[in-house]
Amino acid sequence: MIFSKDPHKRAKSIFNLIAPIYSALDAYVKKGFGKAMNNIREEIDLKGKSVLDIGTGPGAWAALYKENGASKVHGVDFAQKMVKTASKRYAPGITFSTGDAENLTEFEDESFDIVTASFLLHGVTEDKRKLMLNEMKRISKQHVIINDYFGKTPAVARFLEYLEKSDYHHFKENFCNELNNQFPNVKKEKASFGTSVYFASK
Ligand SMILES: C[S@@+](CC[C@H](N)C(=O)[O-])C[C@H]1O[C@@H](n2cnc3c(N)ncnc32)[C@H](O)[C@@H]1O
Repeated sequence: MIFSKDPHKRAKSIFNLIAPIYSALDAYVKKGFGKAMNNIREEIDLKGKSVLDIGTGPGAWAALYKENGASKVHGVDFAQKMVKTASKRYAPGITFSTGDAENLTEFEDESFDIVTASFLLHGVTEDKRKLMLNEMKRISKQHVIINDYFGKTPAVARFLEYLEKSDYHHFKENFCNELNNQFPNVKKEKASFGTSVYFASK
């Protein structure tokens, strides 16, 4: 299979292609998110909150918000097959739609209490990340929560990032600065497997 040279189109094709594999690993991935979700629960009371999960994939990250008290959770992803697999597993309790994190005009300003993204932002270049963070900030009433790499990443993740040709080295070094440039309040809590939860608020 030949992938497009355009990084955006290439990423979409790859994520559509791997959606069934990702979906099969959903329960395992969800378990791995346990420490990150504990960090979030210690920081924010999720009860009754509305949550938008961007780059939701098969839906495990979105599902944890619902299981921890959020009243309304919506997941959005640009890969149609990810949306299909997430809906199959978690709808109707959680709703899902296709959409591009760089331009989410379908969501109004300050329409969700929390806007979150898990393992989305390291996969794009800093300029695209800035667009995505702008959208997250615009749509959130207060909190933006990012679950992503920080520190020493496991070998399997390094291999996947090599294949994906993502920006994760630069991301790990620079992301706190990027957040500080866009938000007045930023905090980072170490989770597990070379990841951290980044909290940013308006
Ligand atoms: C590494 S997966 C993470 C999935 C899930 N959030 C998790 O942590 O398990 C990244 C997801 O982001 C989606 N994605 C990448 N770029 C996107 C964009 N520009 N707009 C919307 N979704 C995007 C991909 O389709 C994929 O489902």
